[in-house]
Amino acid sequence: MTPFKIRRRLKSLLGQPERAEIVRYPVTFLLPDGTEEVVHAEEHYSLLMAADAHGITISTGRRAGGTCPDGHCATCRVEIVSSAGLSPMTDAERESLQDALDGKPHEGRARKPAPPASPNTRLGCYTKIRGPGARVKILELFDPDSIRGE
Ligand code: FES
Repeated sequence: MTPFKIRRRLKSLLGQPERAEIVRYPVTFLLPDGTEEVVHAEEHYSLLMAADAHGITISTGRRAGGTCPDGHCATCRVEIVSSAGLSPMTDAERESLQDALDGKPHEGRARKPAPPASPNTRLGCYTKIRGPGARVKILELFDPDSIRGE
């Protein structure tokens, strides 16, 4: 018996499930061109991860391959149309957004203050999917090939 089968057998004897089910929830992205795209995103994914997994690049974070290292680029900014199934804003997200609004430097580089936020403004890398029904307006799409290696 292989180690994998032994582990499976032990889990079975202990009454543990063999493998956790992956739960996915529908999330609707409203794209800048006016179209909508419904994706089925894994529970606990961020909006940014869900979008990236479906070829929708909403941030320049880590050169368009995911979240920026410090969670402060704020290029993953979105507007929430329906917050159904989304995590609430954390203090870290609020601080990151405020730093962008204040135009605080990021990664040692100056930046202009971001346009004013609305009560529905969120950062896609902080906003987690916990249930179905979110509707999210994407403000800007990025072409990953054009920003890689900057
Ligand atoms: S990817 Fe940088 S703050 Fe979200």
